[in-house]
Amino acid sequence: MSGTYAGRFAGQTAIIAGGASGVGRGLAARLTQEGARVSIWDYDAALLREAAAETGAAHTVVVDVADEAQVQAAADASAQALGRVDVLVVSAGITGPTTTVWEYPTAEWRRVIDINLNGTFYCCRSVVPHMMKNDYGRIVNISSVAGKEGNPNASAYSTSKAGVIGLTKSLGKELAKTGIRVNCVTPATFRSPILKQLTQGQIDYMLSRIPIGRIGEIDEVAALVSWLASRECSFSTGATFDISGGRTTY
Ligand SMILES: NC(=O)c1ccc[n+]([C@@H]2O[C@H](COP(=O)([O-])OP(=O)(O)OC[C@H]3O[C@@H](n4cnc5c(N)ncnc54)[C@H](O)[C@@H]3O)[C@@H](O)[C@H]2O)c1
Repeated sequence: MSGTYAGRFAGQTAIIAGGASGVGRGLAARLTQEGARVSIWDYDAALLREAAAETGAAHTVVVDVADEAQVQAAADASAQALGRVDVLVVSAGITGPTTTVWEYPTAEWRRVIDINLNGTFYCCRSVVPHMMKNDYGRIVNISSVAGKEGNPNASAYSTSKAGVIGLTKSLGKELAKTGIRVNCVTPATFRSPILKQLTQGQIDYMLSRIPIGRIGEIDEVAALVSWLASRECSFSTGATFDISGGRTTY
């Protein structure tokens, strides 16, 4: 793991939704190493056990972020187990099928929106009241460059990630006068298990759009997210942070 900051999250707690794999797992390890007590949420129970053992997370909840009641129960359980909630990172997501809009199965469209967009809404709405108790919080939603540019053959994914940017902007402004900051990141392709959900053709297309000429690494994305999750991120809210190897031009 590249450059961690000892004690940066000492005394703090974090919830990482979708933290059993990929960048969520990388963050769970990093925040734990930097002193936080972390509660990992994921719907894959086996992966969750493996991630908790690997990262040293303090607490886990098996939860489908697309289920509002489960998310509310998970938020309350994590707040009780950790005593307070300082950080929420919403990393749970799926790609959905690689196909055109006119051939997109409607049930798959709904599933992508339910997890990536509605799930992010449920996580934010259930955790914010816990943060308000201490007038402190850092929320980081994981969007995607697809939400800015609209990847062809990934319409539900692109739409859901554009929605996450809008949700982040609204919530950031709603909470701007409090001690809670809300931001999102828009990574281009980075190496994680989610890539198994895509065709090689789709990965090649995305790689061809990155001026740096390679895909990113989990540690690189986790480094940005951990800064956004820290006290140092005090004057940014409702903002969208690029981490795309030069792909995004706005
Ligand atoms: N890897 C990339 O190239 C890339 C690029 C841009 C954005 N992203 C986004 O980053 C986030 C993390 O992705 P990753 O690459 O680490 O993928 P990943 O597949 O390794 O991790 C995603 C995690 O979310 C969990 N999850 C999925 N649906 C869930 C649900 N309904 N309830 C609870 N947990 C659920 C999975 O079990 C998994 O542990 C996602 O939102 C993804 O869209 C990834």
